[in-house]
Amino acid sequence: MLIKKCSNLTQLLHNDTLNHLGYLTVAKTRAKVLAAVSRLIPMPRPLLFVGEQACDELCDMLINEGNTKVLIVTDAVLNKLGVPSKVTDYLDTRNIRYQVYDGITPDPTYKVMEEGLALSIDAGCDSVIGIGGGSVIDAAKMIAMSQSNNCKPKRLIGLFKARKPCLPLYCIPTTAGTGSEATIGAVASDDQTHQKAIAIDPKMVPRAAAIDPTIMKGMPPHITADTGIDVLTHALEAWMSVNATAETDYYAASAVKAVMKYLPIAYKDGDNLKAREEMGMAAHYGGIALNKAALGYVHAIAHQLGAYHGTPHGRANAIVLPYIIELNRKASEKRLAALARKIGVVKNSQASDGDVADQLITQVKTLLETVGIDPTINDMQASDFDNMAKAAAKEVSDTYAVPVYMNGAGIKDILMKIKTASDKANKDKSVSQKVS
Ligand SMILES: [Fe+2]
Repeated sequence: MLIKKCSNLTQLLHNDTLNHLGYLTVAKTRAKVLAAVSRLIPMPRPLLFVGEQACDELCDMLINEGNTKVLIVTDAVLNKLGVPSKVTDYLDTRNIRYQVYDGITPDPTYKVMEEGLALSIDAGCDSVIGIGGGSVIDAAKMIAMSQSNNCKPKRLIGLFKARKPCLPLYCIPTTAGTGSEATIGAVASDDQTHQKAIAIDPKMVPRAAAIDPTIMKGMPPHITADTGIDVLTHALEAWMSVNATAETDYYAASAVKAVMKYLPIAYKDGDNLKAREEMGMAAHYGGIALNKAALGYVHAIAHQLGAYHGTPHGRANAIVLPYIIELNRKASEKRLAALARKIGVVKNSQASDGDVADQLITQVKTLLETVGIDPTINDMQASDFDNMAKAAAKEVSDTYAVPVYMNGAGIKDILMKIKTASDKANKDKSVSQKVS
């Protein structure tokens, strides 16, 4: 009830210009409510299978649990590449029937999910395996939950809307990014506006997940980079969250440490199975950390770049991250220094917290360069910034618990800085093309 009241109040505040004092009060109250709720509700975890045999082990579990017909949710590219065959071949050897739905698109809409749901019901599926990136796994969650609750996916949007557990769900991430196989959330896009909405419910956590490095080794370098920075952003935002706990800190720090060490390796040598597996685990840990600590302005603004410009999620995070880490720099100085010391990235552990925090920030920025993040976003329009800022501010006040709050002008200022940097990078690119 309190959550609903906060939500209504937040909407009222966003009808007109941002009332910053009111916004702050609502946002901070809501963050406290979310912290209390997250302590009270159970946060289930999937049973985890790790390594080159992980997919077979996951299928064995599905079969041992009595499931007889599986909906395989994936996308057309992965299906064409034959990625799901690692699972379907094994199911064939065990005489388990399955139906493949490969219609998942990036940022899947309700319609895409409804098609998968209809196929699952028509085929009489009693379980779901999601094989893909975050979009596929989110869609698999929504389909599995909609079928068991006999409702359309859209009805699941919001907090704890499902009454029944989802169909037995098993997930095999093919990217090391969202960690969606570990989270209590799933994102869906509106068919017309493409604005994203989130369903949050612990009942949609899969029964098991397989972190199989052989499935991830085909990921091209730019997607390895984008998704890897998504992991880093989950972990850093969870670490800086005012709702962080000792448990979320453990997972967030483990994820940051792994990304710093293994993302450059996976980016340069995609066949390095050790680096792929470590990045897969980092993504999973990032997902666990954000379940309770949640995210922040990086994601809120990145979601707007995705909605308005189609910027891939991880890259959008990479573009926004330096601005928000600088914004939080003072308020989070001790926390950032503690993180840097915990993961062992400082050169002089006797240095002041400020110096240590700065070393960590520098290393984050260096990592973005090392993995070749493209900072350009074409055709950003300043006239969109008002609506983008309002949507980002609403996302933060509704969902996150951040160390520093901004008013609309602050968010617009960051959008303008991103546009300026992007315009400059585009100009530099065209000059260097002319020279060559
Ligand atoms: Fe993310």
